[in-house]
Amino acid sequence: MTKKSAKTTADEKLLVGIDLGTSRSAISADNGKKKWVESYVGWPRDFISRKVVGKPMLFGEEAVEHRLSLDMYRPLKNGVIKEGTARDEEAVKELIRHLISLVQPSRNDSKIRAVVGVPAESFKVNKVALKKAVAEFSEALFVVSEPFAVAYGVGALDNALVIDIGAGTVDFCIMHGTVPSEEDQRTVLTAGDYIDQQLFTFLKDRYPEADFNLNMIRRFKEEHSFVGTVDKDVEVEIPVEGKSTVHNITDEMKRACDSILPAIVESTLELIAKFDPEYQDAIRGNIILAGGGSQIRGLVEYLEETIGEYGPTKVRVVDDPLFGGADGALELAKEMPEEYWTEL
Ligand SMILES: Nc1ncnc2c1ncn2[C@@H]1O[C@H](COP(=O)(O)OP(=O)(O)OP(=O)(O)O)[C@@H](O)[C@H]1O
Ligand SMILES: [Mg+2]
Repeated sequence: MTKKSAKTTADEKLLVGIDLGTSRSAISADNGKKKWVESYVGWPRDFISRKVVGKPMLFGEEAVEHRLSLDMYRPLKNGVIKEGTARDEEAVKELIRHLISLVQPSRNDSKIRAVVGVPAESFKVNKVALKKAVAEFSEALFVVSEPFAVAYGVGALDNALVIDIGAGTVDFCIMHGTVPSEEDQRTVLTAGDYIDQQLFTFLKDRYPEADFNLNMIRRFKEEHSFVGTVDKDVEVEIPVEGKSTVHNITDEMKRACDSILPAIVESTLELIAKFDPEYQDAIRGNIILAGGGSQIRGLVEYLEETIGEYGPTKVRVVDDPLFGGADGALELAKEMPEEYWTEL
């Protein structure tokens, strides 16, 4: 995949939008293909594991399944491509290569132009690492913050606030009719992973005899998350001494989900308050939630009520939280003027 074939013509250019997430990464290409993987990259630990897994490298769910044989990397944890470890950088590169291979036609000599959406924090920190990561298999790159990609995708370019609630970070971005600058953005580090940790701790306290791990906790959350009230108790099956047993986890679920709310409300109010006063109402009336965390039941109502104390508030959720970022990045790739691209 090093030298581009001389026969390559402009028609063969493949535009892709990539959403590099802490827990899931998605790609959307202009040939209509869309794919996503869990953001795990794993290398076999030794020659035995290499023989067992039968591949030089595994991704996503397959990597998770074989985790005991692998050195596992989740390279965007906390929204930063971690400094110092060459392996994390390599993992990002391989993840991007893998995503592209999922949408690329089998004859892969087409030129690729990629718009990559990253959590806002890593946007600040590590553009260089990203550039290195994609240089090998794409000819041009543009890096954007993920909430900006989401905003672009839903056409919310003016007077809107996007809140992207992911695994590692909650990213905020105010849109006001221009490309957003750093002041228009915020990142908070208490997001989906944090809810999982909280829920884990609360349940360990209440049910010390129950046998569960973080993976199970995340599944419970994805099925039963809520803020506010629910009309039915949350009950899940967790083994106790090997016997599947029903546990009521309503209170713990509520406390865990509630734990990310104060920072979200505070950042929202702060971002809006420092914006031009004449437009504050308009922005409060156009809040868009994206990312997996946007699926928490009761969240829209909670935010409308709490932020509503400052003036009329309207909150909605993007249609497709899984591909919202990648689709938006693809739209950008299609419409962006030439001078924005970084040639690689
Ligand atoms: N129904 C749900 N209720 C609550 N949380 C959910 C639900 N579905 C998914 N999630 C959580 O959303 C998070 C994943 O969201 P998303 O794919 O947007 O994150 P990401 O892009 O990988 O992370 P980041 O943007 O922080 O890098 C995970 O923590 C996941 O458990
Ligand atoms: Mg994300």
